[in-house]
Amino acid sequence: MMFSKILYLFIIVFFNQYIDLINCKCPPNFVIKPCLCKSAIPSHTGLLFDDTNPETITVQKKSIVCEHIYNSSFNIQLIFLKLSLFNNIISNEDENVMHFDSFLLYNTTIKYLPENVFINITFKSLMFQDNFQLTTIDKNAFSYFKNYVEVFETLNTNLSDSDTIFSIIQQFQYLRRLSMHNDRLKFIPNYAFNHTYLTHIWFGLEYSNKSQPIEKIGDYAFYNLPKLQFLRIFSPNLTKINKYSLAQRNRFILNNGISNMLEIYLGGEMLNSTSFELTSLSRFRNRFVFIRFYHTNITYFDENIFQPFLESNPSSLIDINPTNVLFKCHCRSAWIQYDYFKNIDQIDNRVYGYRCWEYDFTKNCTIK
Ligand SMILES: *[C@@H]1O[C@H](CO)[C@@H](O)[C@H](O)[C@H]1NC(C)=O
Ligand SMILES: *[C@@H]1O[C@H](CO)[C@@H](O)[C@H](O)[C@H]1NC(C)=O
Ligand SMILES: *[C@@H]1O[C@H](CO)[C@@H](O)[C@H](O)[C@H]1NC(C)=O
Ligand SMILES: *[C@@H]1O[C@H](CO)[C@@H](O)[C@H](O)[C@H]1NC(C)=O
Ligand SMILES: *[C@@H]1O[C@H](CO)[C@@H](O)[C@H](O)[C@H]1NC(C)=O
Ligand SMILES: *[C@@H]1O[C@H](CO)[C@@H](O)[C@H](O)[C@H]1NC(C)=O
Ligand SMILES: *[C@@H]1O[C@H](CO)[C@@H](O)[C@H](O)[C@H]1NC(C)=O
Ligand SMILES: *[C@@H]1O[C@H](CO)[C@@H](O)[C@H](O)[C@H]1NC(C)=O
Ligand SMILES: *[C@@H]1O[C@H](CO)[C@@H](O)[C@H](O)[C@H]1NC(C)=O
Ligand SMILES: *[C@@H]1O[C@H](CO)[C@@H](O)[C@H](O)[C@H]1NC(C)=O
Repeated sequence: MMFSKILYLFIIVFFNQYIDLINCKCPPNFVIKPCLCKSAIPSHTGLLFDDTNPETITVQKKSIVCEHIYNSSFNIQLIFLKLSLFNNIISNEDENVMHFDSFLLYNTTIKYLPENVFINITFKSLMFQDNFQLTTIDKNAFSYFKNYVEVFETLNTNLSDSDTIFSIIQQFQYLRRLSMHNDRLKFIPNYAFNHTYLTHIWFGLEYSNKSQPIEKIGDYAFYNLPKLQFLRIFSPNLTKINKYSLAQRNRFILNNGISNMLEIYLGGEMLNSTSFELTSLSRFRNRFVFIRFYHTNITYFDENIFQPFLESNPSSLIDINPTNVLFKCHCRSAWIQYDYFKNIDQIDNRVYGYRCWEYDFTKNCTIK
């Protein structure tokens, strides 16, 4: 009697687990050890996942986290081989068992990710944080599930091979968000992006010590991004914005006017008033653009660059906030007061943070 009760219980438990498995819940831990399957991404990645804009990208049902692995010859592909084989056995032809939400590689000494690193497993978000030795990702590491990837994020890696990284990013046709901070990427190639659904590109953040050591932005790097809404580039090594670097092509028109705004954030102390090539800020196809500067060495706004920018769309805006400590009431910025002063209320004027609306430029400047 007792025995059959236990047996019955056992069968129930086993059956429930089996149902869980085919209902695309987590596989048992022993299959993916030392990685873990979680129903949500753990909180230490809050920064990565939410950034400042807590938008839920994917419904987190099952994600895999591989963390605190300090064996430099560790083969991560083996884990996913086991998981693929295991899922084949339990799958019952149900393809969903192979699909996961996020993959997070966190605080490991892994140096290299090989071709087809996840065997038959797919992810919507790929996240790599605090892997200071991660130097190489094979160009076909994620190719077989490239059409599933919507989010790609890195923070504190040793990735420096821009050609390979951008060829990987280019494969992700359905990418929606890209966020790469404190890696070692030195350039963004010409025509780097061509993504119909991509809305956020973040290289660095304005409110924390995060950047990307980009020295050069290629021509038309962001040209083929009809839905782009946020572009952040913070680099201590960026000296110049070339004529075609920020050029925009088509845009996808939304009903809601504000969503048509493109916000561009630029920062880095090598950026100064002479960093902008002629017409570099006038190639937005009369799109509404809000350009914000943080921690630059800009001292004045060259009329030849910024006046055409403000005229390219009647709503376009500039923000030169207090982090730009060298910006003063330079004679070469006097045109802003003459042409764009509407009202002392900051919000009515199209150059936010301009400190010279009431400054008397006639005293020291020769104004024509
Ligand atoms: C390190 O990883 C390799 C390859 O996965 C494995 O053979 C080895 O046993 C691991 N070493 C330790 C100390 O875990
Ligand atoms: C991966 O998928 C392919 C194609 O469906 C299949 O032939 C192969 O056996 C799978 N590999 C593993 C390790 O499950
Ligand atoms: C990585 O983990 C180790 C020990 O688990 C810890 O001492 C170290 O601070 C962690 N590093 C980061 C960057 O989180
Ligand atoms: C980072 O990569 C470079 C090669 O690009 C290599 O020389 C260096 O040792 C790597 N650093 C770390 C911490 O792995
Ligand atoms: C952009 O991608 C589309 C397919 O998504 C392709 O047809 C087109 O040729 C690409 N354009 C460029 C300039 O790479
Ligand atoms: C900023 O981060 C770098 C490493 O990424 C570090 O060397 C530096 O000390 C940090 N600076 C501040 C002010 O936190
Ligand atoms: C980028 O700038 C930082 C800060 O000025 C500097 O430490 C670093 O060496 C520069 N990197 C390159 C590749 O020039
Ligand atoms: C930018 O300005 C700061 C503050 O005045 C100064 O310390 C720094 O040397 C300047 N950097 C460059 C590249 O001119
Ligand atoms: C801007 O920086 C460049 C070097 O990157 C320098 O040659 C030039 O004099 C600076 N211009 C101003 C106005 O500070
Ligand atoms: C005019 O310039 C002189 C010397 O550069 C400076 O001392 C004075 O404060 C300036 N006056 C105004 C109104 O900016």
